[in-house]
Amino acid sequence: MFYGLNNDELKLLDQALDTINKLYPRIFAGDHLITVGRCMAFLDDQKFMAAYNKNVRNRQERSLLWRLHTLAWAGRHCSRLPGSFVECGVYKGFCSAVLTDYLDFSTAQASRSYYLYDTFEGIPVDHLEGSPVDKDSYKEADLYEQVCERFRPHPNVRVIKGRVPDVFSVQEVPDQIAFLHIDMNSATAEIGALEVLFERVVPGGMIIFDDYGWQAYRAQKDQENAFMDARDYSILELPTGQGLVVKREA
Ligand SMILES: C[S@@+](CC[C@H](N)C(=O)[O-])C[C@H]1O[C@@H](n2cnc3c(N)ncnc32)[C@H](O)[C@@H]1O
Repeated sequence: MFYGLNNDELKLLDQALDTINKLYPRIFAGDHLITVGRCMAFLDDQKFMAAYNKNVRNRQERSLLWRLHTLAWAGRHCSRLPGSFVECGVYKGFCSAVLTDYLDFSTAQASRSYYLYDTFEGIPVDHLEGSPVDKDSYKEADLYEQVCERFRPHPNVRVIKGRVPDVFSVQEVPDQIAFLHIDMNSATAEIGALEVLFERVVPGGMIIFDDYGWQAYRAQKDQENAFMDARDYSILELPTGQGLVVKREA
């Protein structure tokens, strides 16, 4: 999907991509990313594509394929480390559903937990500063119940309703984290999550920021850079717009 283009502009873009596609058989065009002449080997990973196709429910989710590849790659790496998997900002659970299927979470990862934290009522009003998202986004009747149902086949997935970071003082938080996906579209909430969770990420563990490189979410990038600079880390900006940090020994 390319937001901000009208129908005529989208038609022109489609024509240009059709022409390029004749020269280069694999192009990626979606999620504000166009690549030409890349291997895109994730298209050949049958297990990944099966997990993605099983869980994708609409055009917007379909456009996130390359971001899902990043998460699946990181999840696979982290599944060999001690610690839990954590997502802050779950919405309908699309990303985590792809990962739990890709990694056979309830069987191959049965001894670890996957924590999913969300208000399931959208971004708290006092966390909206600097976010391009409005107060009515991500609100849907029975969202929490729907997500609990979605992950029912995975008894080691814990769906936790509450506001980050406050929820960490009243609900269970893992001591050790192997994989941390932060996707709350709010700088205040994401820094609040890092302040509690960063120290719990094990060496070799990964933190993925969903919106890090997106211009509209600049407030997140600026505050996350400051958080990481203070700890002598820097965040890798990926072409998908995600940010990546790999935790080191010390
Ligand atoms: C972009 S959506 C997450 C998308 C999700 N990762 C997926 O796989 O589709 C952002 C989510 O963050 C949640 N959120 C925002 N601020 C929050 C906060 N302070 N505490 C808990 N959840 C929050 C919203 O309720 C919303 O569901």
